[in-house]
Amino acid sequence: MKLTIEKDYDAMSMHTARHVVDLVKSKPNALICIAAGDTPKLTCDFVANIAKKEHVDFTKCYFVSLDEWVGIPPQNEGSCQYFLRTCLFSPLNISEKQVQLFNAMSTDLEKECNNMDRFIKDHGGIDLIIVGVGRNGHIGFNEPGISFDEYSHVVDLDETTQTVGQKYFREETRLTKGITLGLQHLIEAKKAILIANGVKKAEVIRETVEGEIRSQMPASIMRKHINGEIILDEEAASKLTAHEIK
Ligand code: F6R
Repeated sequence: MKLTIEKDYDAMSMHTARHVVDLVKSKPNALICIAAGDTPKLTCDFVANIAKKEHVDFTKCYFVSLDEWVGIPPQNEGSCQYFLRTCLFSPLNISEKQVQLFNAMSTDLEKECNNMDRFIKDHGGIDLIIVGVGRNGHIGFNEPGISFDEYSHVVDLDETTQTVGQKYFREETRLTKGITLGLQHLIEAKKAILIANGVKKAEVIRETVEGEIRSQMPASIMRKHINGEIILDEEAASKLTAHEIK
């Protein structure tokens, strides 16, 4: 696994955005998954800016969502779908036929999971998955204790996730379940990138990079990926005992 430490959030985001744009340049019909949340926000902005500046054609690539809060409608600003549409699909003019998103309002969530798994399989697997990390070590909504070999599934959210998740919503919102890609999707992706910034992530990054690889720390699965990369800013890397700053 590659570990890259950039100076700050800007540099971390630019480095990550470059991976997305370069992939689409070399493989126009690539299948990409980018997490929602605070961490990838600037990466998405940079992807849209570079794509425009360098005239990169995003009309043939595909996107899948990483996860969604069950019961939260897509027009709610706190939903993952709202994030992806606003920060990525709309600026890049991505059409509906290019995306497969979890419908967390569905009465048949198992079918949602099956549809997602089939879409990924039918499109030759995920070429690039970019994930964030929760303070409890979750990836997507793969909470501590999850098995590493799951595909899409529905989960009971950890208390930390329910509490920290309030930051995405205007008003207090009941968040109990999530629907998410599984860690097996991450392992099977041709390239996996985990990004983290800020001092709040320093402890979980230390555990991820230097702790034991275990299901209680889902992010540690990154070290099993044959083409995995963790891209950090200096603050997120500040608790690592042995690292070189670029
Ligand atoms: C969101 C997601 C979550 C976040 C994680 C970090 O789609 O999958 O796992 O990546 O909770 O969130 P932020 O980036 O807001 O710190």
